[in-house]
Parts: sequence; structure tokens; C-alpha cells
Amino acid sequence: MLLQPKQQLGDDDVHVWHALIGEVPALHELDALLLPEELARMRCLHHAKDRDLFLLSRAVMRSVLASYLDCDGCDICLVGDNHGKPMLRPDRHPAELHFNLTHSRGAVALAVSRREVGVDVEDRRRRVEYLALAERFFSPPESEHLRRLPERELPEAFFAIWTLKEAFVKGLGRGIAFPLEAFAFDLDVDRLIAFRPLADFVSRDWHFQQFTLGERHRGAVAVARAAGERVRIELRDWVSAFVPSSHAGGSA
Ligand SMILES: CC(C)(COP(=O)(O)OP(=O)(O)OC[C@H]1O[C@@H](n2cnc3c(N)ncnc32)[C@H](O)[C@@H]1OP(=O)(O)O)[C@@H](O)C(=O)NCCC(=O)NCCS
Repeated sequence: MLLQPKQQLGDDDVHVWHALIGEVPALHELDALLLPEELARMRCLHHAKDRDLFLLSRAVMRSVLASYLDCDGCDICLVGDNHGKPMLRPDRHPAELHFNLTHSRGAVALAVSRREVGVDVEDRRRRVEYLALAERFFSPPESEHLRRLPERELPEAFFAIWTLKEAFVKGLGRGIAFPLEAFAFDLDVDRLIAFRPLADFVSRDWHFQQFTLGERHRGAVAVARAAGERVRIELRDWVSAFVPSSHAGGSA
């Protein structure tokens, strides 16, 4: 039902596969890709839009990982690491392949790399209490930066910092227990992302990149690297590569 393109990944490459649910034709045919326990988890979700996004996230994850590992999607075996970050089961998939998944309000992204990687996507139109959340979760320099901005610039800047922080924490694999105030991003220096550990906890250099998906979603990817190493980050459209053109144009 899906195409099975073979993908190659160099040591410096990070591929960020993305899909917007409104652009995926014949969505419900994808449930053939899910394992029984994934279908059961999907059916437990109360809202249809959450079930659809879960289905798409698993279809993207299984099809993409299979395309690098040259196997069927249903043969991908995952385990959680010590902090719950999903990874390939090393005894079943000896190839060194790291990945991280994110899904939010109609968007899915999966980052794949030979290095540790984290990715986050958020709906930038979501209205939240920007300054109150920043006060609670961000570092003091980040909150201060947001407080000084004109109100119209606040949503963009807030989600830029949020997605960068989440991508980094997800790259480390440490989850919600990790202290988000222990590192800071400076975003207003020539559009470069400056990363400042405020505590001594990062043993290696990390590279960060922001991206947008359609008009609504903003994302960030974080990838571990040794100092001075190059990293090439490429956004890749899942529907174009994996959905047969006979399906294109149809709607979910
Ligand atoms: C679970 C967590 C890793 C990400 O949650 P999230 O941002 O709500 O969700 P995302 O869609 O980006 O990521 C979820 C996926 O990350 C992966 N994941 C789960 N645990 C993970 C971990 N410890 N590390 C990295 N990735 C993890 C899973 O594939 C998960 O998908 P699934 O739920 O469908 O199984 C965790 O960091 C969290 O709850 N973060 C919220 C922290 C917060 O409050 N931040 C405030 C603003 S910075």
C-alpha cells in the first residue's frame, strides 16, 4: 500500500521526515502497518483526531525506519532506554540508527540520524500564557528575553524557545524530569542559535536547527556532535516519498 523506497544515511546526515495529516490520502488504510498493541493503544484514545494522529505517527515511524534498515515496517522492534526514550532494539537491529518522533495537532515529524537526536513540533497558533509558562519552565535569561519583546513577537519567540528546549531534552532522552531552566538559547544574534548550558551537564557539543511545517507548525531538531563536526540537516516530505501517486489528491 505504501511505497518502499530505500534510504541511505551518511554519518553527518540528519533526515527530518514530516507529514501533515490533511495532506495524507487514505489515512485509514495505514492501520495495516500497526502492530496489535499499537492498534489497541490507538483505540483507547478518546478523540478521533488523536487516534488519526497516532495512526499517522506510527505509520511514518515504521515505514521510515524500515526504509533505512531494509526490512518490513512490522519487523521494526523498539525498546525504551533507561529514561523511556524509544530506540531500536540493539539485538534485532545492529545498525547504528538513532531516531526521535514528535506529533502535535495534525503534524508528525521523525528525525533519523547516526547520532543522538531529538525533535519537537508545536502548533504556533496555540494560545497559551506565554510569559507565565516561560517563568515556570524556561531559564531566567530566556524569560527576560521574552518579557522585553513587543506583544506581537511573543508567540513566535515563545514557540522557538519551547521547541528548541524540547528537542534538546528529547535528544538527551531525559524526559520531563530534566531541568529546563538549566540551559538557555539566545535567538536574536544574527538568527544563529546560541546555546548556553547554565549548569555543567552537557558532555558534548550539540547542533540545533529550527524549521516550519506548513503555516501552523514550528519545529526544532537537536543533534549531538563532537566539537567542530559538520552536520547536514534535511527536511523530507513523507507523503511524496512513501505514498503512491495513485493515492495522491484523495483526502483522508
Ligand atoms: C514525553 C516527552 C519526551 C515529550 O513529550 P511531548 O513534547 O508532549 O510530545 P512529542 O510529540 O514531542 O514526543 C512524544 C514522543 O517522544 C518519544 N519519547 C517518549 N519518551 C521520550 C524520552 N524520554 N526522550 C525522548 N523522546 C521520548 C516517543 O516516541 C513519544 O511518542 P508517543 O508518545 O507517541 O509514544 C517529555 O519530554 C515531555 O513530557 N515533555 C514536556 C515537558 C514540558 O513540560 N515542557 C515545557 C516547555 S519547554
